[in-house]
Amino acid sequence: MSSKKVADSFTTFTEIVMPNDTNPMHNLMGGNLLKWMDIACGICGGKHANKIVVTAAVDNVSFSRPIKIGDIVTITAQVTRAFNTSMEIFVEVFKENFRSSEKVKCNEAFLTFVALDDDGRPVTIPELIPETEDENRRFISALRRRELRLVLAGRMKPEEAKELKEIFLQ
Ligand SMILES: CC(C)(COP(=O)(O)OP(=O)(O)OC[C@H]1O[C@@H](n2cnc3c(N)ncnc32)[C@H](O)[C@@H]1OP(=O)(O)O)[C@@H](O)C(=O)NCCC(=O)NCCS
Repeated sequence: MSSKKVADSFTTFTEIVMPNDTNPMHNLMGGNLLKWMDIACGICGGKHANKIVVTAAVDNVSFSRPIKIGDIVTITAQVTRAFNTSMEIFVEVFKENFRSSEKVKCNEAFLTFVALDDDGRPVTIPELIPETEDENRRFISALRRRELRLVLAGRMKPEEAKELKEIFLQ
């Protein structure tokens, strides 16, 4: 099984918020932001897997800071951990505008993508080698996030979620 580094598939995606992307308050619509986050993660996951990838799950996303018409939106995506056929991707959203060069973080989320073969069946992907302290931290905590989402999706029994239980036992 081959392995890859986080940097090999790190993805940056940039958009400018246009009138058709906004609600009547001239704020970027949440659904449009989710779409851009999904695209950034799809590109990132595809680069890691070298396969077609599909979105299997989107973890909690909150919209606490409005992104206004004319703002430049930069989305970064990086694989935090590769499992068997699926991988967890961490996505961050930043806004800035032409008047001030200040970059403000607006959102973050974890998405899960699954790699598919040419017949549309899940296929094994390269493992991920974390390097930095942040990458290692996310790599380790990815196990309990995976257990939580599989339990919530009805794909894992709560009693099998060992990593998750550890949090409460510490
Ligand atoms: C995602 C999909 C390929 C999984 O297919 P499946 O038949 O359930 O396959 P498996 O049971 O072998 O699961 C494959 C992987 O997906 C993961 N997975 C499936 N559902 C998941 C969920 N809700 N959350 C997290 N991971 C999930 C499994 O844990 C497994 O990961 P692993 O191999 O790394 O352990 C299938 O459900 C699908 O095609 N969904 C639609 C995808 C799509 O079109 N997305 C765009 C939005 S419509």
